[in-house]
Amino acid sequence: MCGIIGFTGNIDSKRILIDGLESLEYRGYDSSGVSFFNEKNKVETIKCVGKVENLKKLIDKNLSISNCGIGHTRWATHGNVSIENAHPHKSGFVNLVHNGIIENYISLKDKYDIKNTISSTDTEIAAIILNKFYTETNNDPLVSISRLSKEIKGTYAFCVIFDDRPNEIFAIRKVNPLVSTISNIGSIISSDLTALIPYSKEYYIVPEDSIIKLEQYKIKFYNINNLERINLTPCELNWSNDSTMKDGYPHYMIKEIYEQPKALENTIRPHLKNHIPDFSLENITDEFLKSIDNIQIVACGTALHAGLVACNVFSPIIKIPITAYVASEYRYSEPLITKNTLVIPISQSGETVDTIASLSLAKSYGAKILSVVNVRSSTISRESDFCIFTNAGPEIAVASTKAYTVQIATLFLLFSKIAYLKNMMTIDELINFSKTLELIPQIITDTFSSDKIIKEIAKFLKFKNDCFYIGRLQDYISSLEGALKLKEISYIHTDAYAAGELKHGTIALITQGIPVIAIDTNINISSKLLSNVEEVKAREAAIILIINEKFEYKKDLAKFVVPIKDIDYRFAVFPVSIITQLIAYYTSLEKGLDVDKPRNLAKSVTVE
Ligand code: M6R
Repeated sequence: MCGIIGFTGNIDSKRILIDGLESLEYRGYDSSGVSFFNEKNKVETIKCVGKVENLKKLIDKNLSISNCGIGHTRWATHGNVSIENAHPHKSGFVNLVHNGIIENYISLKDKYDIKNTISSTDTEIAAIILNKFYTETNNDPLVSISRLSKEIKGTYAFCVIFDDRPNEIFAIRKVNPLVSTISNIGSIISSDLTALIPYSKEYYIVPEDSIIKLEQYKIKFYNINNLERINLTPCELNWSNDSTMKDGYPHYMIKEIYEQPKALENTIRPHLKNHIPDFSLENITDEFLKSIDNIQIVACGTALHAGLVACNVFSPIIKIPITAYVASEYRYSEPLITKNTLVIPISQSGETVDTIASLSLAKSYGAKILSVVNVRSSTISRESDFCIFTNAGPEIAVASTKAYTVQIATLFLLFSKIAYLKNMMTIDELINFSKTLELIPQIITDTFSSDKIIKEIAKFLKFKNDCFYIGRLQDYISSLEGALKLKEISYIHTDAYAAGELKHGTIALITQGIPVIAIDTNINISSKLLSNVEEVKAREAAIILIINEKFEYKKDLAKFVVPIKDIDYRFAVFPVSIITQLIAYYTSLEKGLDVDKPRNLAKSVTVE
């Protein structure tokens, strides 16, 4: 969480910093700020509470000329949302921005006898200590930063400018990411690639245990321990500038919902050879897949739901234990890992801190790690033995949409291949399964035509304070995801229940007019689900039914019905996701909320 940007070059740095912060804003938007050298080489700082647009207005009024500066957009961890707590933080020569959490900041405060601080952040403590080291070392940036890194426990990405070093930016990181590039306008550093895309086709991943120094057209890396120079090879950036634009859509979320057919095609196609899943691109051999006897998925939020879908569909087919774990729990557990356990971290960003920690734990127990990640060169992809990239392109809206469906498609390809290799699927079953998967982009395109009824549903939901999603088996997982999406961006309290569980307590909450969204896509249990719907209908709930177009149901059962194409229930999660995503989107829109940047959230959760 929090976005960091730094620029030193030959054009107005304030413009580059603001553009960068706008593209990083999805990492947090409680407050923002910049520090930059003006034409007299004096550092000026501008900060404000709220979104980057507020900072932009202040910067537009500032007439200083600047070619070097750092900026930050904050997701509050330590200290409330206020100007004092906004970054950059200053102490003496040091102007510093930070993404992460300094876990030992209280003991550091004692150790260095820090009494009077301006903010209540952990970051200011780092700025004060760094300034102390800087003055003690006769203003040596490398030695003082190296000393700081030895003092701090926790996760961080720091970017620093020193008052007496115009045009130079220094940075270090631990766990939290930093990437950097040299372009024809100068050198840039950022929390992630989205801010670099307009400037270059190459970038460096700042290694942990290194200090990076940016000069106008130079980037230098130093080993953080012995301060010797390190040479790094740049990586190729293959996302286009257009892919981070709204492309005429009013919001990133709706753009990303509509990108799903393409994203799925781009993810499925490279992994099928004659309709047989193929992972030679990733060097994943059949022998390896055949040897797996236990699969543990670790993920958070929507990515976790993608894992749950795959468990639900494939546990009964492969007949080995397949379990999806909440990463923030798994990382503190004692997982049962044997030599043939495969651990699958799933993550859009590849930077979710709990998923990274789960990966490290599993690795330390000797598990093989095969991750499913969208962002190339992200920490999770680098730390894994194998990584299958989902080709969704950049996902900017905080609410995850296209990343979810491509994660499910990837797991379907992988797990069907494992099932086949373990003789749990015949070659014909495998090919039929893949062929159905190949139809999904078109089925999703067809599902967009439900737009009209969904807009009506949104008009109805906008006045509600509470809502329930219910379903059974895969439809229960779709309920979990639908509920997460709705509460995340419409702020309507929404819970998901396995439909059969309602009578064990929750039905007490069902009163007249409460919306209950029921998902019914599995013919084997449709009658059971519909009985549960009758039960809430009897308590005067307002039923919204998402149902396979061929299923029978009582005509006056639901206030709204959204039919989905008749499809093998194992694949129904795809059209159902589109419907639940659109319900959330249009409800948020009806309520006049900030769809892409819901309150209190950030896209990449890089703190615990
Ligand atoms: O980047 P990741 O896929 O690891 O992120 C995981 C969750 O933080 C993410 O899916 C979150 O739940 C979304 N905001 C949900 O829409």
